[in-house]
Amino acid sequence: DDTLRSLAAPSGLRIGAAINTDKLGTDDAYTTIAGEQFSTVSPENVMKWDTIEPTQGTYNFAPADKLVAFAQQHGQLVRGHTLVWHNQLPSWLTAEADSLTADQLRAILKKHIQTEVKHFKGKIWQWDVVNEAFADDGTLRDDIWSQKLGDSYIADAFRWAHEADPKAKLFYNDYNIEYTGAKSEAVYAMVKKLQAQGVPIDGVGFQDHLDTQYGTPNLQETMQKFADLGLDTAVTEADVRTTLPVTTVEQTAQNSMWSQSLSACLLVKRCISFTVWGIDDGSSWVPSTFEGEGAALLWDDDFQPKAQFGVLQQTLELA
Ligand code: G3I
Repeated sequence: DDTLRSLAAPSGLRIGAAINTDKLGTDDAYTTIAGEQFSTVSPENVMKWDTIEPTQGTYNFAPADKLVAFAQQHGQLVRGHTLVWHNQLPSWLTAEADSLTADQLRAILKKHIQTEVKHFKGKIWQWDVVNEAFADDGTLRDDIWSQKLGDSYIADAFRWAHEADPKAKLFYNDYNIEYTGAKSEAVYAMVKKLQAQGVPIDGVGFQDHLDTQYGTPNLQETMQKFADLGLDTAVTEADVRTTLPVTTVEQTAQNSMWSQSLSACLLVKRCISFTVWGIDDGSSWVPSTFEGEGAALLWDDDFQPKAQFGVLQQTLELA
């Protein structure tokens, strides 16, 4: 059995993918890969607030329930993504945000977190409780949460999530923290502060959205630094984009970047899962966000495994 999940099993590492639930059960090639290759899954969109509570007080758990059921059928654990974020908020909330007091916004956030976490109680392995709260310069992101609540919402969010499901592992998740720099250092300082205050944080997720034009981050060193705080770490949204069409040099760079990302996770004992952000290049978020770029995933548009898939297999075999 040379599936990624089987090859990773001896080292105890879970291999995951972000799943587009619209394709699950409707696209055969997609569904087969999703069920066979991975031992953990993340909802690419359907646990975000805009899907979960499209109108205030009306909940839409069905798409995420479908993914949780699929995971249980396939012996997979679920990474819940994500409870607090500045993006993909329901329009009823963004529309009224300005007119809310801090106490009102805090109450809305608490209700959201506890309703969602309770709904999935016992079924989520890791929750991305807070996502992308920092700007690249290391300051708190200027969003509706920090504007009204300062940084207090971060500790609150972890405490509320823990109350609702004490057994779930609670993560802070971000991008551009894979390498040494202002943002990574700001997240490190925040995590230390949370720990000192007794806030229930279990791990830090490194999204790991890479691009051949920026090269390979010092992910192993960075993750180890966080692990040394007594935290779990995870690679949560890996992909490696490049400009199209892919040249031989770019392909070689992609292979090496994939191998180094996975090796970093294998070499950090507390790195407990390695999740790729999608299955096929055709449904990746990359082409619609970065013009002229793509080829970021492990399967091509026709669901044929790419060289990158073989690289991950080999890396796991050698581990
Ligand atoms: O659901 C609507 C649909 O009704 C509408 O017809 C269609 C038209 O554009 O849009 C659909 O919503 C899209 C949604 O994905 C679901 O497909 C949004 O436009 C689109 O912006 C959204 O993109 C997602 C993106 O987060 C939003 O920020 C991507 O799929 C998803 O891969 C991406 O994931 C994020 C992580 O959550 C956090 N880290 C970064 C990562 C990449 O941006």
